[in-house]
Amino acid sequence: MAEASVGGRSSRWSLQGMTALVTGGTKGIGYGIVEELAELGACVYTCSRNKAELNECLQQWAIKGFQVTGSVCDIVSSTQRNDLITKVSSVFNGKLNILVNNVGANLWKPTLEFTEEDFSFLVSTNLESAYHITQLAHPLLKASQAASIVFISSIAGVVSINIGSIYGAAKGAINHLTKNLACEWAKDNIRTNCVAPGTIKTPLAEPYLKDETFVEKYMRRTPLGRFGEVKEVSSTVAFLCLPAASYITGQTICVDGGLTVLGF
Ligand SMILES: NC(=O)c1ccc[n+]([C@@H]2O[C@H](COP(=O)([O-])OP(=O)(O)OC[C@H]3O[C@@H](n4cnc5c(N)ncnc54)[C@H](OP(=O)(O)O)[C@@H]3O)[C@@H](O)[C@H]2O)c1
Repeated sequence: MAEASVGGRSSRWSLQGMTALVTGGTKGIGYGIVEELAELGACVYTCSRNKAELNECLQQWAIKGFQVTGSVCDIVSSTQRNDLITKVSSVFNGKLNILVNNVGANLWKPTLEFTEEDFSFLVSTNLESAYHITQLAHPLLKASQAASIVFISSIAGVVSINIGSIYGAAKGAINHLTKNLACEWAKDNIRTNCVAPGTIKTPLAEPYLKDETFVEKYMRRTPLGRFGEVKEVSSTVAFLCLPAASYITGQTICVDGGLTVLGF
């Protein structure tokens, strides 16, 4: 049977008519994901904490012809998370096809130097906020009847790369949460996957990119011998959201130039 066609492209390779929420879309990987999903036809909603930067991004996207709206939200705040989902529900009439939990942060210290405040900051930003946003978004995802959640974790949650044990533990928990939700919510037509980037050139990664020891070790351990680009992560996220990926759920895909598969 012939596939429906959208703009000359099979509908299996289009996000036309779909709605998406991407957290932390004003910089780095999140910015790239907003653009990638919008280019494929999705209506995207995003958030960040800096109002001026968010408005600047929204203007740029409007000029490019992308359908992107957004609002300020610190996703570590329970009240602000609730407000965010209320707004998303109102903008998208209670239906959300795609949720990308992108926000994350890191502090780079040896384990014995971490404080209780550091632990709380890292776990609330990298794990707790994504967990609760996903809970809140569940009714909207279910209502869309064909939904996809993508978590952004890190190869630090797959192997030890010595950039902070709390970050690694929180990202490892996200990888496992992916498997649980894939099984629990399959009955609601919600697929759940995870993308685990290696080092990607973004503001978050700047301290590592400037550290000569880290760069030298990273290059030695990475078969492709370079850092990654934002586009190389956003394309993987977009693929997982497409109807073309309809049999993929519960997976963590490392976008890391081969770092996690190199033995010696
Ligand atoms: N870059 C890498 O090498 C790398 C590697 C592995 C995994 N990752 C993961 O990829 C994801 C994106 O990283 P990135 O490198 O693109 O980071 P980034 O350059 O620091 O960008 C983070 C984005 O999230 C927003 N944000 C941060 N904290 C927030 C909060 N509490 N509430 C709402 N928005 C918030 C930021 O805007 P505001 O600051 O204005 O809020 C910004 O738009 C993270 O989960 C990170 O752990 C990155």
